[in-house]
Amino acid sequence: MEVKTKQPLLSDHVDMRLVAVDADEAISDRNAIVELDPDHPGFRDREYRKRRNQIAQLAMNFQPGDQIPDAPYTAEEHQVWRTIWKALGPAHQRHACAEYLSSLRRLSFDSDRIPQLREVNEKVQAISGFRLEPVAGLVQPRVFLENLANGVFLCTQYIRHHSTPLYTPEPDVVHEIVGHGVTLASERLAELNRLFGEAVKRATAQDALDRLSRVYWFTIEFGALREGESVKAYGTGLLSSAGEMEEMGDAELRPLDIEAASHLEYDPTHFQPVLFCAESFEAMYQTLRQYLIRW
Ligand SMILES: [Fe+2]
Repeated sequence: MEVKTKQPLLSDHVDMRLVAVDADEAISDRNAIVELDPDHPGFRDREYRKRRNQIAQLAMNFQPGDQIPDAPYTAEEHQVWRTIWKALGPAHQRHACAEYLSSLRRLSFDSDRIPQLREVNEKVQAISGFRLEPVAGLVQPRVFLENLANGVFLCTQYIRHHSTPLYTPEPDVVHEIVGHGVTLASERLAELNRLFGEAVKRATAQDALDRLSRVYWFTIEFGALREGESVKAYGTGLLSSAGEMEEMGDAELRPLDIEAASHLEYDPTHFQPVLFCAESFEAMYQTLRQYLIRW
């Protein structure tokens, strides 16, 4: 892997969250790949930092086409998954869209332990052809988005720190699997992800990439839609956070307007105050599909 100094790590794919890699340090000390900010919940936990580095190392050694190595999660981390799952279960029943719930049933996760990416891939690939691949970092938004065109979703493998099971300052394996893994097991949502990748490949200017990134944020990450009288989530950022799903009612709902979304700035560090809400899943799918194809 070509290493450059102080590039942002994966972030939330399209935004820039707080994890960073100090590449010089990574070269001199292979056990210190991941740097956490001092206010990160795991900053003072040596064991956690060690495991984050181990998991990042797995990703650095990974070659596309290899079987994804299993991450060495601890009993404490599986407990984090159980705690999250307990909160997510009822939130999904109340706030997740039907397309998501049907994909979730298809994947049938074990609520007792963190699934390995290898296991998730077996099921997702059979449905949509998409596969998750681990990355340690140094992934720029363009790289992330362009990989979608090839049916590859670059994702993190670590889990958040056990002291804050319902909060993570950066996307972790819960967001990746519960959010993206499940939605990629929907043929139509997988197709939209693929179309994003193809559109980004055609969008060579930085401004075009920025606009597509914002559209990705307000749809695939934080999209909402109507099912009858109810507002439901299809965005992975909502679907992987019980807290944010429960607060959806407080957000300002705007009719889905892709052009407007492409120009709207957002702050990834707070619950989203504005959500774009489509009239139905079908309306969202058709509108977004047409927009992406036209790029
Ligand atoms: Fe995401």
